[in-house]
Amino acid sequence: MADSKLVLVSGVKPTGDLHIGNYFGAMRQFVDLTKEGLPAGQAGKYRPFIFVADYHALNTIQDAEEMRRRTREIVMAYIAIGLDPEAVTFFKQSDIPAHTELCWIFDTITTMPYLMRAHAFKDAEAKSKEISVGTFNYPMLMAADILLYDASIVPVGADQKQHIEYARDTAEKFNRVFKTDVFKLPEPYIMPDVAIVPGTDGQKMSKSYRNVIPLFASHDELVKAVMGIVTDSSGGRPENVFQIHKLVRSESELVNVYDQHKGNYKALKETLIEDLERYLAPMRAKYEELKQDSAIVDDVLARGKQEARAISEAKMEQVRKAIGVA
Ligand code: ADP
Ligand code: TRP
Repeated sequence: MADSKLVLVSGVKPTGDLHIGNYFGAMRQFVDLTKEGLPAGQAGKYRPFIFVADYHALNTIQDAEEMRRRTREIVMAYIAIGLDPEAVTFFKQSDIPAHTELCWIFDTITTMPYLMRAHAFKDAEAKSKEISVGTFNYPMLMAADILLYDASIVPVGADQKQHIEYARDTAEKFNRVFKTDVFKLPEPYIMPDVAIVPGTDGQKMSKSYRNVIPLFASHDELVKAVMGIVTDSSGGRPENVFQIHKLVRSESELVNVYDQHKGNYKALKETLIEDLERYLAPMRAKYEELKQDSAIVDDVLARGKQEARAISEAKMEQVRKAIGVA
């Protein structure tokens, strides 16, 4: 840690059933960012801390077996798509007690009306959902996640921007109330919007619509999903097939392929299967390897735990001093 790289912190929720929409829409960019840093003109490489936000997920996943399985799945998935566990501190939020401890401290300097202005809370309330205290308090746990590591940059989707503002406000408030400069103010990095990946029925690919091509699909699952893509026979080419195809093969090559097989949707789908297979097979192989050898995930998380504990404990010592309990 004794280097001058900017700290990048982000949490991934262990929501499962990953599909190629998640991969092309979010996961791939995220992994590239941890490898390469921001686009030219901005800061260079980072010191990334990535964690599985299992305590955040506890608001919705309330089944021990499912929590364990999904946590491992998300770790395996990120490693399989190229997150380098050697270059990243990759850990479980629940392995680091400082996150919940700091969350409590933040609760004491935060008001209810302030948390009631959070979009996520207002949306849930508008839908008359029953809201757990954990859900209400989500922004404070997230502020703790970010501020413990002196994050400069927090890559998230646009829907999370307000949460980063909450973390900034909380850092400022803590520093002001306790007359200290313990916390550094983080900046959001909103990942650029990429085109929506269509599902097999032409709507947005989403696990809730059952129209997905699973990211780690077996060959048979790929065949089934692709053959099931709804084709619109009125146009010059099957647009849903083409839109998925261009994610895995250059558009200029594809134009020729689609010209050659004009009208022959079966041949085009077979080509798409081959191209998807070529693209996805290495990631699937890596995923399978990780599934077979559970020690790899255990080791990554154990190392992450050790690194994150040391840093977060040092920060908590400053915090405890600042508030007067130490
Ligand atoms: P789902 O709709 O399957 O429940 P999530 O809401 O869990 O997917 O999405 C997780 C991330 O993946 C989000 O950042 C979202 O932007 C991205 N994503 C999901 N589906 C698509 C899609 N069809 N096209 C592009 N990005 C997507
Ligand atoms: N709330 C984020 C999401 O829903 C996940 C998350 C939890 C997170 N803690 C974080 C992201 C800290 C960035 C930093 O995607």
